Amino acid sequence: MATLETNVLGIKFENPFLLASAPPTALIESIDKAFSLGWGGAVLKTITPDDLVMEEASPRYAIIKERKKVIGFQNIELLSHKSVQYWCDGIKYLKEKYPEKVIIASIMAPVEKDEWQNLVRTLNDTPIDAYELNFSCPHGMPERNIGMAIGTSAEISILITSWVKAVANKPVFVKLTPNVTDITWIANAVERAGADGIAAINTVQGFMGTDPETLEPLLNVDGMTTYGGCSGEIVKPIGLRCVSQIRKNSKLPILGIGGITNWYDTVQYIAAGSDVVQICTEVMLNGYGIIKGLKAGLLNYLEAKGFNDISVIKDIAVSGITAHEKLNKHYHVYPKIDDKKCVACGKCVNICCESEHHALTKDNNSINLNKEHCEGCSLCSIVCPKEAITMHK
Ligand SMILES: Cc1cc2nc3c(=O)[nH]c(=O)nc-3n(C[C@H](O)[C@H](O)[C@H](O)COP(=O)(O)O)c2cc1C
Repeated sequence: MATLETNVLGIKFENPFLLASAPPTALIESIDKAFSLGWGGAVLKTITPDDLVMEEASPRYAIIKERKKVIGFQNIELLSHKSVQYWCDGIKYLKEKYPEKVIIASIMAPVEKDEWQNLVRTLNDTPIDAYELNFSCPHGMPERNIGMAIGTSAEISILITSWVKAVANKPVFVKLTPNVTDITWIANAVERAGADGIAAINTVQGFMGTDPETLEPLLNVDGMTTYGGCSGEIVKPIGLRCVSQIRKNSKLPILGIGGITNWYDTVQYIAAGSDVVQICTEVMLNGYGIIKGLKAGLLNYLEAKGFNDISVIKDIAVSGITAHEKLNKHYHVYPKIDDKKCVACGKCVNICCESEHHALTKDNNSINLNKEHCEGCSLCSIVCPKEAITMHK
């Protein structure tokens, strides 16, 4: 029998699925419900010192849809509006009721030693399992030199990590932003400053664009908009890239985040270097109940493969990622056309010609391949509306 249990820095996780810091973790009673449904843990909506004033905008979300399904999400939401005392009381309540669930306190404060250390000292007295330093929100906070303004500066990230580490009585994860040229630069900096682990990624800064009908912004706050944070399926390749880059450069545990919707994505994140995963947008769109399918899907996968637990797949993708110049240029794949599926629509031929290669031709309702011209790029198999083309060595 496979198990979903895992262990990170001595913290036991009954399963690797955590709610990410976001609206689904903004209220104690909601987290209570999520725990009762089977989530392994929760990262609390980012807690700030009580005197940090925040004003939310309305509306604060926009989406990108593909065939009626939301594949991209954007938000301009700020942090928790609840007091530090609310969280201290709530954490104690949750831990008493669910001692086996992992609770991570996400925190953010102005760049002042006392502000960070006082917040940590207060939370030290609660039964949290770890801290997550939010150096990564891309909107609202950078204007005040916090959020992503911290996580895009190695110098400030080092400073705050070392302030927190000096007083924290629990492991400290640092949540990084993908909105940097090289995320390993910041990950290595906070590791040197004593961070016990990394959480990645926070949202990807974006602009949802203009509504062609009204010529107003799609995320329209009284005719104006602002750059927001993108999340959901569209950011998964960015999250996977960041996690694997961090893993290639560091042995620190990683809480993987970004576009996870199912067990398949979870396997990919663990293979890319994550120890456990966090999920936000998929929960916002479909509710806490998705945990049932996540757990069953991952367990089925492990059992079908004969794996005892997720440690077997951990980091497995990382050694297979290399520089382009090191890829084997003698390896070549060619398209194979399934005559039973092909309707000779000619789309593959057109696209192949318009994209340089001229390797496919159509005569008498059949598609022919000129191997000498084929570079094995695989575009024909991607555009085929009948999925009649597969690539073979
Ligand atoms: C509406 C919304 C609010 C968020 N608030 C926070 C926050 O307070 N603190 C934080 O660290 N991340 C916050 N995030 C980022 C998420 O925790 C997560 O890193 C990101 O959404 C990517 O994961 P996903 O694709 O599963 O949503 C927020 C995300 C969304 C969509």
